[in-house]
Amino acid sequence: MTASLTTDVLVVGSGPAGASSALFLSSLGVDNVVITKYCWTANTPRAHITNQRTMEILRDAGLEADVLEKATPQHLMGQTPFVTSLAGEELARLHTWGNHPARLADYTLASPSTHVDLPQDLLEPIVLGHAASRGSRIRFDTEYLGLVQDDEGVTVTVRDRLGGHTYDIRAKYLIGADGGRSQVAQDVGLPLAGRMDVAGSMNIVFTADLSRYVAYRPSVLYWVLQPGSDVGGIGLGLVRMVRPWHEWLIVWGYDIDEPPPEVSDEHAIEIVHNLVGDDTIDVAIRSTSLWSNNRAWMERYAEGRVFCMGDACHRHPPSNGLGSNTSIQDAYNLAWKLALVVQGKAAPALLDSYDAERAPVGEQIVKRANQSIDEFGPIFQALGLLDTSDPEQMRANIEARKQATPEAAEQRRRLREAIELKNYEFNAHGVEMNHRYRSSAVVADGTPEPPFERDPELYYAPTTWPGARLPHAWLEHRAARVSTHDLAGKGRFCLLTGIGGDGWVDAAAAVAGATGVEIAAYVIGPGREVLDTYDDWARAREVEEDGCLLVRPDGHVAWRSRSRVDDPRTALQGVLEQLLGLD
Ligand code: FDA
Repeated sequence: MTASLTTDVLVVGSGPAGASSALFLSSLGVDNVVITKYCWTANTPRAHITNQRTMEILRDAGLEADVLEKATPQHLMGQTPFVTSLAGEELARLHTWGNHPARLADYTLASPSTHVDLPQDLLEPIVLGHAASRGSRIRFDTEYLGLVQDDEGVTVTVRDRLGGHTYDIRAKYLIGADGGRSQVAQDVGLPLAGRMDVAGSMNIVFTADLSRYVAYRPSVLYWVLQPGSDVGGIGLGLVRMVRPWHEWLIVWGYDIDEPPPEVSDEHAIEIVHNLVGDDTIDVAIRSTSLWSNNRAWMERYAEGRVFCMGDACHRHPPSNGLGSNTSIQDAYNLAWKLALVVQGKAAPALLDSYDAERAPVGEQIVKRANQSIDEFGPIFQALGLLDTSDPEQMRANIEARKQATPEAAEQRRRLREAIELKNYEFNAHGVEMNHRYRSSAVVADGTPEPPFERDPELYYAPTTWPGARLPHAWLEHRAARVSTHDLAGKGRFCLLTGIGGDGWVDAAAAVAGATGVEIAAYVIGPGREVLDTYDDWARAREVEEDGCLLVRPDGHVAWRSRSRVDDPRTALQGVLEQLLGLD
C-alpha cells in the first residue's frame, strides 16, 4: 500500500518525550510528524518537578521564558514537611530542591537555570505549541497500530480514531515515545528488565484553598503519615501542590493485588478531608485516576530505525521527579544525532550512541526512584510505626518521642537521621546533573575519569572530561551576561578556547566548511569577544588557555585538547569524523 503521508521522523506520542522530540527536530530543520492517541495533551498535572538540566535544555530551545511565566519558582518549592495532617502535628521538615541555604550555592553555581515546578498539563502545550510553530505536523486522535521496517525506512499503520479508518505513514526513522505501556517498544522487541506493577496509587485532583495550612511553609510536597487511615497500614499520603495554594493533587495508595477500587467523589473528598485534617474546607474534585508504580527499564532503546524513549524505556515511581525530565533529556540526546544523519552529515552509526548514552541513565533513575520509596522505611521505623499494626499504638509511639528520656532522645536522633536520608530524593543534584556519557560520540582524551570527591548522588561534580555535561560559568559576550551553555547548543557544535587558541578557531571554520557541520568557535579572554568576567571559566575549563573544548549540540563535551597542537585542523577533523562515524 502507498503511504498516505511521508516524513523524515515519525514521533508516536505527545507527552514530554514526544513533544520535545518534535520541538528539537523542528528546531533543527528536520521534517517530522507527531501522532497521538488522544484529542489533546495530558489532561492531569502528573509530572511537575522540572530540574535544572531540563530547564537548560528548554533555555537552549528558546522556551525558558514561557516556562518561567507559568511555573512556580524554586523558592516556593522547598520546605517539605512530614505531618500527621496539614492541620495536625508536624513531625519533621526538610529543605528540598536545593532550597537549603547551604545547598543553594551548589545549585546556583551549577547552571544558568533554576528548578521550577510546572505541572505536565501546562508544560506539554508549551512544548508542543512551539514544535507546531516550527513546523511539526501534529495529528491528534491518531493511534499507532503497528510497524514494518526495511532498509530504507519504517511504515507505520495508524488509525484515525474519529473516522475509524486506517492509513500508513512512511518515515525514515520512528521515535516510540508512547509511554509506560509502549506498544512500539513491544513491537520491536526491546528487552525489559525489572518488574511492572509493583504498587498501586490513586491520584485525586482537587481545588481547595489550603493557604492557611501551607503558605507559611511553602512546598510542592506535603507528606502525611496517618496511622489507621488505610486498612491496617501506616497511611502514607502525599498532598501535592499543583498551583499555590488552591489546586492540589493527592497521591494515595491502594492494594495492587486487590481489584482496582472505585473512587467516588464522596470517597475522594473523605480522603482529602482526612489528609488535610479539616472537614470544614470546601473541596471540588476535578478528577480521580489509578496508576501503578513500576521498577522496569529497557536494556536497549533502539532496534533498527526505531528509537524509544521516555516512560517507554524507564518506568518508575514519581520519587525524585525524574520521569518527564529524563524523557526530555532522552529527546535532546537523540534529536541532533537524527538531524545530522537525516541531513547526510553523519553516518547512521552515530545513532548507536543514543542507546549507549541513555540506557545507563534510565536504569539508574529507575533504581534511584524506587530506592527513594524504600527510604521512607527508616522514618516509619524511627516513629515506631513498624513495631505494631494497631493505629492507637502507632500514635502512642509517635508521641513517645516527646519524652525527656534517653529512649526518646534516641528516637529523635533516629528520626533526624531518617529525614536526612530523604536528601537522596529531594536534593539529589548529582543524580540530575552528573551524566557522563561513554559512547562512540565521545572522543577520549586519554585522561582518567575524575573521581567524585563528594557523594555523586547528592552533589554535582563539574568537569570537562569528555562525555560530561559542559560546566556552567557566567561570561560576558557583546555586553551581555551569558552562560557557557548559551554559547553552546542551538543545534551546532561549539569550540571554546582561550588566548593563544586562535589556531583552533581557524581549524573549526575549516572543518565546518569541509564537513558541512556547523561549529561555532569562541576565544574567551581579555580583549576578546567573550570575557571571563569572574575568572570562573579559567577555574572550570581543566585545559590550558591555548587548549580547547569541543562541545556537542546537546551541551556535553565531545573532546578536549589540553593545549595547542601543531596541526589543529587535522586534530579537529579527525575527532569530528570519528564522532560522526565518517572515519
Ligand atoms: P507519556 O505517558 O507522558 O506520553 C505518552 C504519549 O503517547 C501520550 O501522548 C499518549 O497519548 C501517546 N500514546 C500512547 N499510546 C499510543 C498509541 N498507541 N498511539 C498513539 N499515541 C499513543 N515526572 C517528573 O519528571 N517529575 C515529576 O514530578 C513527576 N511526577 C509524577 C507524578 C505522578 C502522579 C505520575 C503518574 C507521574 C509523574 N512523573 C513525574 C512521571 C511523568 O508523568 C512521566 O515520566 C512522563 O509523562 C513520561 O513522558 P513520556 O512522554 O515518556 O510518556
